[in-house]
Amino acid sequence: MRVHWSNRRAFIMATAGSAVGLGNIWKFPYMTGTNGGSAFVLVYLLCVALIGLPLMMTEVMLGRRAQRNPVDGMAHLASEAGATQMWKGIGYMGIAAGILILSFYSVVAGWVLDYGLRAAGGGFAGMGAEQAQQQFSSFIGNPYELLLWHTVFMFLTMVVVARGVTSGLERANKIMMPSLVAILLILLGYSMAVGDISRSLDFMFRPDFSRITPTAVLSAMGHSFFTLSLGMGAVMVYGSYLQRHVSIARASFYVVLTDTAVALVAGVTIFAIVFANGLEPAAGPGLIFQTLPIAFGRMPGGTLFATLFFVLVAFAAWTSSISLVEPAVSWLIENTRLDRTRAALLVGGLIWLIGIAVLLSFNAWGEIKLFGLTIFDQLDKLTTNVMLPLGGLLMALFAVWVMRAAHAQEELALNDRHYRRWLFVTRYVAPAAIVLVFLNLVGWLPLV
Ligand code: TRP
Repeated sequence: MRVHWSNRRAFIMATAGSAVGLGNIWKFPYMTGTNGGSAFVLVYLLCVALIGLPLMMTEVMLGRRAQRNPVDGMAHLASEAGATQMWKGIGYMGIAAGILILSFYSVVAGWVLDYGLRAAGGGFAGMGAEQAQQQFSSFIGNPYELLLWHTVFMFLTMVVVARGVTSGLERANKIMMPSLVAILLILLGYSMAVGDISRSLDFMFRPDFSRITPTAVLSAMGHSFFTLSLGMGAVMVYGSYLQRHVSIARASFYVVLTDTAVALVAGVTIFAIVFANGLEPAAGPGLIFQTLPIAFGRMPGGTLFATLFFVLVAFAAWTSSISLVEPAVSWLIENTRLDRTRAALLVGGLIWLIGIAVLLSFNAWGEIKLFGLTIFDQLDKLTTNVMLPLGGLLMALFAVWVMRAAHAQEELALNDRHYRRWLFVTRYVAPAAIVLVFLNLVGWLPLV
């Protein structure tokens, strides 16, 4: 018998743990900052509600029906529908995407660990803008330090994965997710006390339609895949551990709600601190590493709250990283004689190796460019803008055009009205939206 989560809550926590990650606390705020605030937030919310939620349901549905890892799962579903075995490709691409994403995700998570220690040691006290910049660039310029933290983070990830679904994944999420929410709320309270909340809310929510640019629309859409962990089989494999009687729609709804709430609260918190200190919201990827230390360094209780902040981000990254390797590990266990520990070691070792190339791209290999981008940027772009939307597109097409409607319906157990809505979105809206992203990438939509 295949292992399953202990209950619905365990699934929701684990999947929310996968979704809530660097995407919410590092990427979402800096993307909001660089894309003009409220316009980006509005489009992001629309994408999450209209495309993200139905796709989340689709991916969970495929996983639970298949009861297998994403590769064999897609093969099984394809034969059940009398379709070609080529659909397995979704699973292979997902495994590859997970390995590639984690190889750069782990490097950034390593920065978070290092900054957590710096914060705890009171290292931000009285830090000026120039100093903060200097600190960040000399840190990422040192490959040994990056290697150390990348190694630590990969080790932490593999320990949890090796322990298995219930005593590893489930337990880690059960401890970390509530702590994460608690820390986030403490930080929100703190930033309400010392930050500029009203300016932050204004920046993020006061509708300003003049700032909706095509670029903002497209990056918001790509980000909605990344932040919800969609398109690579992470949600599928978590769905395959879900018991039959649980409502997929309801569970997916809670996951999407949690992910979105965390992103919004993190954004409001961070911008309140940024504005109160007269800093730049459009600082880009360095936002939390270059801007926040300055702010924390001059605020009362800065050492404590900065430490809490980086612990929060580390937890979020950790519960996401385990979901990035689980498809590969479950595939190995179900197809080879490797046990879970060895499978985890093998996958982790491979990711660790690729990660070395990624971390060198910030220093020694900074000049090596693949199609004009460093290894780090290239991996981020390739996975987020190509592999995830493509995976999501294929899953949607499979669910509505290949799978038997009766099977999908049985698994989703929706009432008629909701089923028709899911069908409409999965058939037309989501694929059209994804194709739009691709056309933009290929440069066929020059306006964008
Ligand atoms: N969603 C996570 C974040 O926001 C990252 C992540 C975990 C992910 N698993 C994934 C992204 C699978 C895409 C696919 O940080």
